[in-house]
Amino acid sequence: MFHAKSSFMSMIKRSAKTLASIAVVASFPALADDAAPKFADQGKGWTGALRKEFYGLDQGARIMPYSWIKALKHPDGTGFLDDALGRYGYLPNPDGETPGLPVGFLAAADSGAKEKTFSMTCAACHTRQIEIDGKPIRIDGGPAIVDFGSLLDDMDKALGKVLGDDASFAEFAQAVLGSSPSEDARKQLRQDVVTWFASYDTLIQASLHPKPSDDKRVALPWGPARADCVGMIFNRVTGLDIGKTPNRIIAGNMAPADAPVRNLRLECIRARLDAMAWLRAKW
Ligand code: HEC
Repeated sequence: MFHAKSSFMSMIKRSAKTLASIAVVASFPALADDAAPKFADQGKGWTGALRKEFYGLDQGARIMPYSWIKALKHPDGTGFLDDALGRYGYLPNPDGETPGLPVGFLAAADSGAKEKTFSMTCAACHTRQIEIDGKPIRIDGGPAIVDFGSLLDDMDKALGKVLGDDASFAEFAQAVLGSSPSEDARKQLRQDVVTWFASYDTLIQASLHPKPSDDKRVALPWGPARADCVGMIFNRVTGLDIGKTPNRIIAGNMAPADAPVRNLRLECIRARLDAMAWLRAKW
């Protein structure tokens, strides 16, 4: 019998079991204990070296300073990266260049920038893993079974808490700046977070949590394996990037990102190779 089930679901079950067995959890166990996956045959052109490159190739999508995401906490006190984002279904990347980040994420270094930036790449959303008879099978380029919406939401909530609660900010500032930061450094950090959050929170609220008065449509949580990426990109471009106000935000241009799309599969290896060649030339 051919039996396939989502490794995300089995991971959730496994994690729940582990959580139940430990009274205080310092770190959330991700898929590190998983057997190494078997890779679906994608043809001769798809080598291990290309796979490794695909998993961490910088596509320029910057999220927040890497030191911030490392300092962020979930409401239960666990670090955001403790489980390498395994709770959202992202896959471990033991050979990746940024230890502790899953497939499709990296700490990107930009020339001239003081610090690295937490970044996402194509592979985060376009790498699938399923289980067949209990064995993990990796399908590079397949639609990921990940809960991207919850990741976006949780980052919004965590940074919101940092700004809204003095104790959280103090803890965050210490993690980002070191044990005894100067008052100036703390003020600058707060200002940087305020600026970042103004754009990010506007995007997330308008896209994922429209008020009934803003729009008749009800935005349902995306859940695993669903992401209205086109809606998000339009909101980002028209709502955050083209305005002339000091912070460039035009909240009125944003609409709920509620198209019923899922992570589609990249049609063939050629598309991936072409995309990577294009990216390499561009960045
Ligand atoms: C945040 C998740 C995410 C990231 C990152 C991402 N994609 Fe996608 N991709 C999607 C989703 C979701 C779709 C489905 C289309 C939609 O949203 O309307 C899609 C669709 C596609 C398609 C169309 C597939 C088909 O079968 O029609 C291609 C090709 C594609 N993406 C390539 C890429 C490439 C190349 C990158 C990196 C530069 C990338 N994607 C980054 C989520 C993502």
